[in-house]
Amino acid sequence: MARVTEQFCCQSCGSSYRKWQGKCDTCGDWNSLIEDAAQEVVPKGLTSGKGRSLKFTTLSAEKSDHKRLYCGVAELDRVLGGGFVPGSSVLIGGDPGIGKSTILLQAVGSMAKKGHACTYISGEEATQQISMRAKRLGLADSPVKLASANSLRDIVTSLEKGEPPQLLIIDSIQTMYADNLNSAPGTVSQVRACSQELIRLAKKIGCALILVGHVTKDGQIAGPRVLEHMVDTVLYFEGDRGHQFRILRAVKNRYGATDEIGVFEMTDKGLQEVANPSALFLSNQDKEISGASVFAGMEGTRPLLVEIQGLVAASQQATPRRAVVGWDSSRLAMILAVLDARCGLSLSGNEVYLNVAGGLRVNEPAADLAVAAALVSSISDIPVPENSIIFGEIGLSGEIRAVGQTDARLKEAAKLGFTTAIIPLGSKIKDPTIKIIEVEHLSEIVRLFTQAKPAENG
Ligand code: TYD
Ligand code: MG
Repeated sequence: MARVTEQFCCQSCGSSYRKWQGKCDTCGDWNSLIEDAAQEVVPKGLTSGKGRSLKFTTLSAEKSDHKRLYCGVAELDRVLGGGFVPGSSVLIGGDPGIGKSTILLQAVGSMAKKGHACTYISGEEATQQISMRAKRLGLADSPVKLASANSLRDIVTSLEKGEPPQLLIIDSIQTMYADNLNSAPGTVSQVRACSQELIRLAKKIGCALILVGHVTKDGQIAGPRVLEHMVDTVLYFEGDRGHQFRILRAVKNRYGATDEIGVFEMTDKGLQEVANPSALFLSNQDKEISGASVFAGMEGTRPLLVEIQGLVAASQQATPRRAVVGWDSSRLAMILAVLDARCGLSLSGNEVYLNVAGGLRVNEPAADLAVAAALVSSISDIPVPENSIIFGEIGLSGEIRAVGQTDARLKEAAKLGFTTAIIPLGSKIKDPTIKIIEVEHLSEIVRLFTQAKPAENG
């Protein structure tokens, strides 16, 4: 028999220690060790006994004839890579109040209406609260099986006995507990044990499992990384509370592309899908203002135009402020360094602010050129050429490097009425639908904004 020993377990990374200590040696987190007696000691001679021999097959042998389940929320289906896969597990994380329960209720509601068996188990809310929300979403008549429960044993027993659901939602995994473990719900060992058991159950009864996961302060799903390894798909629901837009992003997907995003808008009738997100992230394009450029980005397979705003202001401080919203701050530092070293444009005495409009987070290096254009435009007080989009990666010597999917970016820009594109030299374009300005070096961008006002720059 395996022996359970008293242990301390890091709640950030899952490593275990015999004695308590202030800092986890593995991940370096402070105060993350708590008493968590779930790490079982593997007894000696585990592999020496007789086991069954495995039956090996070939890669082509086991063709899955599982049909994917489309939930009817098109943006969610797309992020999943085309609906839920039966027997698979999905983890969806996000800040409290971002709309995880809402979107899942909408998904089960519309699926149950189509005749699929759906079960929604909430460990956080009472069934009345959920039915009130369903009423508000217009889903009160949907035949969803609803329960409020926390005990893993009760959940597994009821699901194994009755008719198995096709879609099972557990909201949230941090509120579930296995009664054979001593630790409290939400601890690493409880989260791990409950997920393992639920994933096993989903595989056995062939239902798609969706686990809601809380995120910690620094934006990761609470519980160790192992949770992300255990499931097939990890989705993050993100967005700025100040904005009504919500973005569902796939960060891991065994059944589809990652980096795919779905865009929603939170309304009084739940989350509405946004079919044309590019228009959403662009602010008023009629007026020409300096310090703003439009970046033609890609989010997964989808092109997305976003406005990037830069502000360069005089500073009185010895170390001027640099603040970034929606972009990588070290990437900004790099662009400022390249502007200084390669283009002779020093901003070391200025405060620099950068903002991606609409609450979106941009991760692509292709945004470099748009960021540089916004900053240089802010310094020179000359607007970016009217109706133009910009993209391109900046190298450390100031060269502009070509990026992928040029055609998709240009097509989206043309669709939204843009007439000019400032892009890297040597980009492969199949059929240019708008005017192309090719740039080879960052200094050309600087020149573009300083030429119009030669007096100011001496
Ligand atoms: P919820 O789905 O409960 O968030 P989570 O499960 O991620 O914690 O979302 C709750 C928020 O959404 C809450 O602030 C109210 C808002 N909301 C609306 O604006 N409209 C709606 O129709 C619903 C159901 C919720
Ligand atoms: Mg919730």
